[in-house]
Amino acid sequence: LDKLPRVETDVIVIGAGIAGLYTALKTSETKRVLMITKKSLFDSNTRYAQGGIAAVISDEDSPEFLAQDTLIAGAGLCEASAVDVLVHEGPRGVQQLIRYGTNFDEEDGHFALTKEGAHSQRRILHANGDATGYEIVRALAEKVKSDPTLELWDDHFVLDLLTEDEECRGAIVQKPDGSRVAVFGRATILCTGGTGQLYRYTTNPEVATGDGVAMAYRAGADIRDMEFNQFHPTSLCYPGAPRFLISEAVRGEGAVLRNIRGDRFMENYHPQLELAPRDVVARAIVTEMEATKSTYVYIDITHETPELIKHRFPTIYEFCLNYGLDMTTDWIPVAPAAHYMMGGVKTDLHGETSIKRLFACGEASSTGVHGANRLASNSLSEAIVFGQRIVDAINELSPNKLTADNGNSGDRNSSLIGALIERRLKLQKNMVRYVGLRRDRAGLLKGLEDLKKQLPLLQLCLSKKEELEYANLLTCAMLVTEAALNREESRGGHYREDYPQKDDMNWRRHTILNREKGIR
Ligand code: SIN
Repeated sequence: LDKLPRVETDVIVIGAGIAGLYTALKTSETKRVLMITKKSLFDSNTRYAQGGIAAVISDEDSPEFLAQDTLIAGAGLCEASAVDVLVHEGPRGVQQLIRYGTNFDEEDGHFALTKEGAHSQRRILHANGDATGYEIVRALAEKVKSDPTLELWDDHFVLDLLTEDEECRGAIVQKPDGSRVAVFGRATILCTGGTGQLYRYTTNPEVATGDGVAMAYRAGADIRDMEFNQFHPTSLCYPGAPRFLISEAVRGEGAVLRNIRGDRFMENYHPQLELAPRDVVARAIVTEMEATKSTYVYIDITHETPELIKHRFPTIYEFCLNYGLDMTTDWIPVAPAAHYMMGGVKTDLHGETSIKRLFACGEASSTGVHGANRLASNSLSEAIVFGQRIVDAINELSPNKLTADNGNSGDRNSSLIGALIERRLKLQKNMVRYVGLRRDRAGLLKGLEDLKKQLPLLQLCLSKKEELEYANLLTCAMLVTEAALNREESRGGHYREDYPQKDDMNWRRHTILNREKGIR
């Protein structure tokens, strides 16, 4: 560590989605900020968010209604205090996004609001129809690029956090040329997103490799509720096409699901039909796929006018059309895909983790808002609400020493772990098979056994980006599998075929994983 060049700043922001962009911009109003992205400002899950951002805007809505919907979706595991923060502070965050230049869709002089699964009200703001995330990234990235107090390092990989006296002091960062630098700051914010790349089929981009969760775990932070993975019910499932998201807002606007025989089936599964909670819809789809020996079902919005479809869902319409599928006349083949990580690095109500001066925001964090299952479109609002709270907390921090005694500086020789593409694919396939939408003890044990065989890799000093990402994925896969094995009940995004019911008598509320203290 002593041999590395050092850089000092006030606040280090790691990651480029809405959490990173928002906290970096807000913090830079009073502090020097170094923002580090693995690729670029345009590579994050936020950019692909379609449905929108949930907030209490309409006069017919109230914070209590949104709280109730969030708590029901969270299946008994949300932290009520965190939900309270979300529902009350969301509108202020939305106003700030607008001040930063985000243009949300309007109708008759009011914000156009849509509905998604398990929402009791129309309360989801959107932009350019179904390109909400892209519009937010566009607006915030423009501001970041023109902010003179904000230094941006694109294409840099954060290897590990630096700690001393149970405080985070910064991070070791690998530059594009492979050289390394120790970056010190008064606070570090992990905005590194989720773990979608753990699964073979995912709506997430390539960058979603759980880097922040893995490095926080290595640094000794508490990681919470990693067994809760959300599988989005409707991702495009068509030969040659990626698992592109077909927004829940399509069902919110009236689309129905049909099996390959053409029969609507959701009435056999849930009174809320196509707008039932995501885990229910996703499992119902898999059951129908198995019953009909098919790899997909259909989403059908052909009863709507072509004008409405093209106006409301221009991105989805165009994307499908590229593959010869016309939403206005064709049923679109879809299947579930990994979408969101409910768990993450445990934080308090100000976004601070169990390591002082280390904050987590957005999907990387576990604030307690999402419980066992996230309500659609609550993630963008969570990032801005808790992002603001992190900025406020950082403004109150006293100066600290800018030194560290703990962090892997990577002085040892690098070793190549070879056959990386195959390894990553195998891990992703095994996660689908053993730790996917439906789990049981035998499968989870098999999954764990396979993962353990790979663990010696984590002792190597890795340097290629693909190796570093694989190591982080492996760490996260272990955390998800161990947590899933430990929770002998079904709840929200965690479904055990051998324990198909909720167990309100015996269950441990949260699963906490800690490198030193184990699972508790
Ligand atoms: C969607 O548009 O269906 C995704 C929204 C979300 O995951 O919050």
